[in-house]
Amino acid sequence: MAIPPRILLGVSGGIAAYKAPEMVRRWRERGAEVRCAMTDNARRFVSPLALEVVTGHRVYGEEYLKPQGSGVEEHIELTEWADRLVLAPATANLLALLARGLAPNFLTTLALAWDGPVVVAPAMHPRMWNHPATQENVALLRARGVTLVGPVVGPLASGEIGMGRMADPLAIVGAGLEMSGLEVRAGVGPADDKSSLVGRRVLVSAGPTREPLDPVRFLGNRSSGKMGFALAAEAAKRGAIVDLVSGPVSLEEPPGVRRTRVETALEMRTAMLDRVVDAEVVFMTAAVADYRPLRVASEKLKKETGPPTVELVENPDILVELSKAPGRRLIVGFAAETEDVLRHGQTKLERKGCDLLVVNDVSRADIGFDSDDNEVTVLAKGAPPVVISRRPKRELAAALLDLVESDLVERDVVERELSTETESEVGA
Ligand code: PMT
Repeated sequence: MAIPPRILLGVSGGIAAYKAPEMVRRWRERGAEVRCAMTDNARRFVSPLALEVVTGHRVYGEEYLKPQGSGVEEHIELTEWADRLVLAPATANLLALLARGLAPNFLTTLALAWDGPVVVAPAMHPRMWNHPATQENVALLRARGVTLVGPVVGPLASGEIGMGRMADPLAIVGAGLEMSGLEVRAGVGPADDKSSLVGRRVLVSAGPTREPLDPVRFLGNRSSGKMGFALAAEAAKRGAIVDLVSGPVSLEEPPGVRRTRVETALEMRTAMLDRVVDAEVVFMTAAVADYRPLRVASEKLKKETGPPTVELVENPDILVELSKAPGRRLIVGFAAETEDVLRHGQTKLERKGCDLLVVNDVSRADIGFDSDDNEVTVLAKGAPPVVISRRPKRELAAALLDLVESDLVERDVVERELSTETESEVGA
């Protein structure tokens, strides 16, 4: 019989602390054992009693911090009991203490004594998140192997909207379980039954296209498909019905995702246009060749005949066609830029007619093409740009989907309001 994961949840003092009992409940539903430690500030947002009730155990705080050598050291006992440490919400202060190895309270003392895997879910005001000190602390923690979940863009306690909201509790629950060796759920099947993506059709394109010159040679690019596959995997995890149209890449399809393999831009166009009718969200992550050779030699081009002159013709712009396709859906384009990234991105957003454009700087070696990480700026008409700082593509996909989900929820609300207005007009 499998040993249940033992999760130690550390709660620090932010408004999102009130979501801690919900996370504990979800873990326990999935068979995990959970214990909690909290800072004094966290107690102002969630009662220790609530956490005691949902965990079925006492909750650890300052009263358990005994001078070294004065008997049982609870923080050491706890670290020996757990196999995973999840810190949620993690304030800017907690991130700084963790990064620098400072231990002024029970929670940070415990964290310093911890040598296992750690998941951190930051939550703070966007200005604190964007502060170079916080970003430096985050980079330090990542370099030490800490998994960061969020933060995400969304409404904040202050009433503003920005990057700094704690990730969805179910995303944190999923990260905690995944790393304890438990599957969140195999295949399609959301950990997140509240996700607005449950049952929605999501269409993703990924990877490069190959434009043949002769039977063995082609024009291509360095896209690995990682970004698109990460989006497809995350959408499936949230309960969406996912269609993935992919150029030639060496990645396994994520569980629960229906994959169609294509080679050329024209094949990708056909596959995408066939599937867009049913789609409610489209991610055009593929690096589609803008041009293809006008003539494809039926035999391998011979060296003896000298260097060939290759005449190119323009490929159709799939994203533009998808944006014009009949029906209502959210279309998310990507833009690979190398200079003056935001200005070119804005022009592309208008030209392509999509709802959101995710711009990445592909002149950088640490992000973009074929790297494990990405950093993007999300552009939308009439809204300020949103930066999602550098992180693994899997995490970036989650942040992007959070953004898309808030957009979908907003659209649903507007649609409901409009239909109510129309109904009452008809009734009047
Ligand atoms: O695959 P990875 O290695 O993980 O790398 C990810 C990525 C860098 C490829 C990805 O993040 C990315 O930037 N994808 C878009 C690449 C691209 O083709 O950008 P573009 O600026 O040339 O095109 C803008 C948009 O138009 C894209 O959504 C593209 O899919 C679309 N397009 C372009 C040309 C064309 N003929 N048809 C299109 O639909």
